[in-house]
Amino acid sequence: MNKRVAICPGSFDPITKGHLDIIHRAAPMFDELIVVVMTNHAKKCSFTADERRVMIEKSVADIKNVKVDCYDGLLAEYTEKKNACAIIKGLRAVSDFEYEFQMALTNKKLNPKVETLFLTTSADNMYLSSSMVRLIASMNGDITEFVPSVIHDDIMQRLSKPKKD
Ligand code: PNS
Repeated sequence: MNKRVAICPGSFDPITKGHLDIIHRAAPMFDELIVVVMTNHAKKCSFTADERRVMIEKSVADIKNVKVDCYDGLLAEYTEKKNACAIIKGLRAVSDFEYEFQMALTNKKLNPKVETLFLTTSADNMYLSSSMVRLIASMNGDITEFVPSVIHDDIMQRLSKPKKD
C-alpha cells in the first residue's frame, strides 16, 4: 500500500509552540509528515530558510515520522513531488480563514490529488504568532512560554538587543 504522506507548510519564522502542537497532533494521522519551510512572498523573514529548518529539526527530534525540508517553489508542486495526500494547516481564528480558504482552493486547482485539512489550534495557542515572538525577543522579553525550549537560546541570541544601563 502507498505511504500516506502529508505536508505541513509554513514560514516558521521561527517555529512556535502553536506550530509544534499542530505537528504533534497531525503526525499520528499519517505514515509520514513533512514540515516544509517555504517562501511567503508577503513576509520578510528574520531567519534564513536553513536556520528555520534547523530550529524545526531540533523541535521535532522526538517525533519519529516527521521530516523537515525547505522548498522555494509552489506548494502544489511540492505536494506532487512528494506524492502527498494532504496539506495540514493550523487555524487560530476567523481572521485566518479567508486567506487559508483562498490558498486551499488554489492549491486544489493546481494539484487536485491533494486535500487541505485544517486543525483548530488549542485554546492556549490562540493568540500566538511568530511575529509576536520576534517582537518580544527583540525587546528582550521572555519568550519561554511561546517557543520550544530547545530553540529558545537560538532565537534570543539572534533577536535580543544588548542591554543598556
Ligand atoms: O506560515 P505562513 O507564512 O502562513 O505560510 C504560508 C505559506 C508559506 C505556506 C504560503 O505562502 C505558500 O504556500 N508559499 C509557497 C508558494 C505558494 O504555493 N503560494 C500559494 C499559491 S496559492
